[in-house]
Amino acid sequence: NEPIDVSLAGIAAGQTLRRIWQGKLILIHHRTPEEIVAARTGDHSTLVDPQSDSERVAPDYPQWLVVQGYCPHAGCVPNTRPGGQGWICPCHGSEFDTSGRVTRGPATTNLAVPEFAFHPDGLTVRIG
Ligand code: FES
Repeated sequence: NEPIDVSLAGIAAGQTLRRIWQGKLILIHHRTPEEIVAARTGDHSTLVDPQSDSERVAPDYPQWLVVQGYCPHAGCVPNTRPGGQGWICPCHGSEFDTSGRVTRGPATTNLAVPEFAFHPDGLTVRIG
Protein backbone atom coordinates (compact mmCIF):
# COMPACT_ATOMS: atom_id res chain seq x y z
CA ASN A 1 0.00 0.00 0.00
CA GLU A 2 2.73 2.39 -0.99
CA PRO A 3 1.63 5.98 -1.46
CA ILE A 4 2.58 7.77 -4.67
CA ASP A 5 3.76 11.35 -5.06
CA VAL A 6 2.27 13.23 -7.98
CA SER A 7 3.75 16.44 -9.32
CA LEU A 8 1.16 19.10 -10.02
CA ALA A 9 3.53 21.37 -11.90
CA GLY A 10 2.24 22.51 -15.25
CA ILE A 11 -1.37 21.39 -14.80
CA ALA A 12 -3.38 24.41 -15.84
CA ALA A 13 -6.69 25.32 -14.25
CA GLY A 14 -9.43 23.30 -15.88
CA GLN A 15 -7.15 20.35 -16.65
CA THR A 16 -7.38 16.86 -15.17
CA LEU A 17 -4.45 14.58 -14.47
CA ARG A 18 -4.92 10.80 -14.41
CA ARG A 19 -2.80 8.53 -12.27
CA ILE A 20 -3.05 4.92 -11.21
CA TRP A 21 -2.76 4.15 -7.50
CA GLN A 22 -3.12 0.58 -6.25
CA GLY A 23 -4.57 -0.38 -9.59
CA LYS A 24 -7.23 2.31 -9.37
CA LEU A 25 -7.65 5.38 -11.51
CA ILE A 26 -7.27 8.64 -9.61
CA LEU A 27 -8.42 11.92 -11.17
CA ILE A 28 -6.67 15.09 -10.02
CA HIS A 29 -8.54 18.09 -11.33
CA HIS A 30 -7.23 21.67 -11.14
CA ARG A 31 -10.35 23.70 -10.45
CA THR A 32 -10.79 27.20 -11.79
CA PRO A 33 -11.88 29.94 -9.37
CA GLU A 34 -15.36 29.65 -10.86
CA GLU A 35 -15.44 25.91 -10.21
CA ILE A 36 -14.47 26.50 -6.58
CA VAL A 37 -17.19 29.11 -6.16
CA ALA A 38 -19.72 26.74 -7.74
CA ALA A 39 -18.69 23.98 -5.34
CA ARG A 40 -19.17 26.27 -2.34
CA THR A 41 -22.36 28.05 -3.32
CA GLY A 42 -25.74 26.57 -2.54
CA ASP A 43 -27.11 24.29 0.12
CA HIS A 44 -25.20 21.02 0.10
CA SER A 45 -27.52 19.59 2.77
CA THR A 46 -30.17 19.02 0.10
CA LEU A 47 -27.89 16.82 -2.04
CA VAL A 48 -28.49 13.07 -2.29
CA ASP A 49 -25.13 12.43 -0.58
CA PRO A 50 -24.69 15.58 1.52
CA GLN A 51 -21.11 16.70 1.93
CA SER A 52 -19.62 20.17 2.06
CA ASP A 53 -16.86 20.97 -0.41
CA SER A 54 -14.46 21.53 2.48
CA GLU A 55 -15.00 17.92 3.55
CA ARG A 56 -13.70 16.79 0.16
CA VAL A 57 -10.71 19.02 -0.62
CA ALA A 58 -7.68 20.19 1.35
CA PRO A 59 -8.36 23.47 3.19
CA ASP A 60 -5.20 25.14 1.92
CA TYR A 61 -5.51 23.83 -1.64
CA PRO A 62 -9.18 24.11 -2.65
CA GLN A 63 -8.17 24.37 -6.30
CA TRP A 64 -7.35 20.64 -6.38
CA LEU A 65 -10.12 18.04 -6.51
CA VAL A 66 -8.80 14.51 -5.99
CA VAL A 67 -11.27 11.68 -6.63
CA GLN A 68 -11.34 8.07 -7.66
CA GLY A 69 -12.15 7.83 -11.34
CA TYR A 70 -15.16 5.55 -11.07
CA CYS A 71 -18.83 6.37 -11.16
CA PRO A 72 -20.42 4.92 -8.00
CA HIS A 73 -23.33 3.54 -10.05
CA ALA A 74 -21.52 0.87 -12.04
CA GLY A 75 -17.92 1.95 -12.24
CA CYS A 76 -17.57 3.81 -15.54
CA VAL A 77 -15.00 6.60 -15.74
CA PRO A 78 -16.68 10.01 -15.53
CA ASN A 79 -15.72 12.81 -17.91
CA THR A 80 -15.45 16.49 -17.17
CA ARG A 81 -18.33 18.51 -18.58
CA PRO A 82 -17.48 21.41 -20.88
CA GLY A 83 -17.18 24.83 -19.32
CA GLY A 84 -16.24 23.69 -15.84
CA GLN A 85 -19.68 22.22 -15.16
CA GLY A 86 -18.46 19.27 -13.13
CA TRP A 87 -18.60 15.67 -14.34
CA ILE A 88 -20.85 13.37 -16.32
CA CYS A 89 -20.81 9.61 -16.57
CA PRO A 90 -20.85 8.32 -20.17
CA CYS A 91 -22.65 5.10 -19.26
CA HIS A 92 -26.01 6.13 -17.77
CA GLY A 93 -25.75 9.88 -17.42
CA SER A 94 -25.09 10.44 -13.74
CA GLU A 95 -23.89 13.97 -13.09
CA PHE A 96 -21.53 15.30 -10.45
CA ASP A 97 -20.78 18.89 -9.50
CA THR A 98 -17.39 20.59 -9.33
CA SER A 99 -16.82 18.92 -5.97
CA GLY A 100 -17.58 15.49 -7.44
CA ARG A 101 -20.91 15.27 -5.59
CA VAL A 102 -23.75 13.52 -7.34
CA THR A 103 -26.45 15.89 -8.63
CA ARG A 104 -28.28 13.48 -10.95
CA GLY A 105 -28.68 9.72 -10.82
CA PRO A 106 -28.73 6.83 -11.24
CA ALA A 107 -25.64 7.19 -9.00
CA THR A 108 -26.61 7.86 -5.39
CA THR A 109 -23.21 8.58 -3.87
CA ASN A 110 -20.47 11.08 -4.58
CA LEU A 111 -17.22 10.32 -6.40
CA ALA A 112 -15.03 8.75 -3.73
CA VAL A 113 -12.14 10.77 -2.34
CA PRO A 114 -8.94 8.78 -1.69
CA GLU A 115 -6.51 9.48 1.12
CA PHE A 116 -4.28 12.34 0.02
CA ALA A 117 -2.05 15.06 1.46
CA PHE A 118 -0.20 18.01 -0.03
CA HIS A 119 3.46 18.67 0.41
CA PRO A 120 4.04 22.04 2.07
CA ASP A 121 5.18 23.51 -1.25
CA GLY A 122 1.75 22.78 -2.71
CA LEU A 123 3.32 21.43 -5.89
CA THR A 124 3.11 17.75 -5.05
CA VAL A 125 0.29 15.65 -3.69
CA ARG A 126 0.75 12.28 -2.03
CA ILE A 127 -1.97 9.76 -2.76
CA GLY A 128 -2.41 7.04 -0.15
FE1 FES B 1 -22.20 5.91 -14.22
FE2 FES B 1 -24.14 4.14 -14.51
S1 FES B 1 -22.01 3.77 -14.38
S2 FES B 1 -24.31 6.28 -14.43
